[in-house]
Order: sequence, then C-alpha cells, then structure tokens
Amino acid sequence: MATDPFALFDEWLAEARTSEINDPEAMALATADASGQPSVRMVLLKGHGPDGFVFYTNEQSAKGEDLAANPRAALLFHWKSLRRQVRIEGKVERVPDAQADVYFATRARDSQLGAWASDQSRRLDSRQTFESRFEEVKRRFEGEDVPRPARWRGYRVVPERVEFWLDRPHRLHERRLFTRDGEGWTEGLLYP
Ligand SMILES: Cc1cc2nc3c(=O)[nH]c(=O)nc-3n(C[C@H](O)[C@H](O)[C@H](O)COP(=O)(O)O)c2cc1C
Repeated sequence: MATDPFALFDEWLAEARTSEINDPEAMALATADASGQPSVRMVLLKGHGPDGFVFYTNEQSAKGEDLAANPRAALLFHWKSLRRQVRIEGKVERVPDAQADVYFATRARDSQLGAWASDQSRRLDSRQTFESRFEEVKRRFEGEDVPRPARWRGYRVVPERVEFWLDRPHRLHERRLFTRDGEGWTEGLLYP
C-alpha cells in the first residue's frame, strides 16, 4: 500500500497523459464565497507534489474573490478514458511571487498579453472592447518582455484529503481515501 497520495497521483496522471484526448491536467476547482455559496470551474494543474496542487489565475476573478474570503477549495480530476476520478480537499495558499514570475515567463506571449487585457469575471459589453484592450496592451509592451500582472497569481491547494476512485464492474467501485495525519497520511477505504 502507498504511504502517501502523491506517488499514486503521479502514476494516475502519467496514465491519463497517455490516454486522454486533451488536457489531462484539467481539473474542476470548487470554491465557496463568504456566504457559503459554492462555485465550480475548470483550471489547469501547473505543478504538484507534497506541497500541494498549483494553478494560476486572476486574483480579482470570482474564484480569486472566493479564495480571499474563504481560503479552502476542492479539486476534481475526472479522466473519462480511464474511468477514474481523484478528489482533493484542503486549504489554499498563494504561490510566492517569484515562482509565479517564473511560470508566467514560460507562457506564450499572447497568453501573457491576454492576462493584462482581461478583467477576468467582470462584465464585458462586447467582444470588440476586449479585442481593443488586447491591441492596446500589445502596443504597450511592443519590443519588451511582458511582465506578470500583479493580480495574476498562483494558488496551491494543500491537501488534507485525497480520494482515488476507480471504476469496477456493476458499480462495485473502489475508493481509496488518504487523510492527512500530522506529518503523515492514513489510508483507508470507503464504500462506493
Ligand atoms: C480545460 C479548461 C482549463 C482552464 N484553465 C484555466 C486556468 O488554469 N486558469 C484560469 O484562470 N481559468 C482557466 N479556465 C477558465 C475557467 O474555467 C473560468 O472560465 C475562468 O477562470 C473564470 O472563472 P471564475 O469567474 O469562476 O473566476 C479553464 C477552462 C477550461 C475549460
């Protein structure tokens, strides 16, 4: 039996990378606002390990506001071709600025410009407005590197609970649950 969920997650993600038709790193991110209203959307996993599961976004987006009010989240990977899911729950921390800078620098230039042009989750009157803003930032940074906008940052979900769900015939699915136990992890099973 594994002693922590990370090695098993690596194994499953590696398999998903060979089987999914696109975005094996896509995960649903659930947050809740201060009133408890949940909200869920997809994001891309951009780093993972014993420290947690990292994604990047705009801190002024709806999810960013939720996380400022309630820094807890749940993640869900569903790899359809493998008929597997992984559910992760825990506290959310910000990724240090220096690490976010390094990742931002690896993004395609248009994605970097998009991060400047987009007021993510705010109302937009027309597509044209967004396109003009994009052209404006394109001119603004012409001939220079595009720096990371301060509001664009990384978040790390530090897991307290990780469940691996495996399809079995006749709905007799297998569920392995890892729960954080001090410095280590306890593993158990759940009824399907
Ligand atoms: C497969 C997929 C991956 C996505 N990855 C990201 C991501 O890594 N970061 C992000 O901010 N939005 C990502 N999006 C867009 C989000 O789902 C969402 O539309 C956006 O972040 C605004 O969410 P919010 O209004 O709840 O904050 C992705 C969408 C899809 C379908």
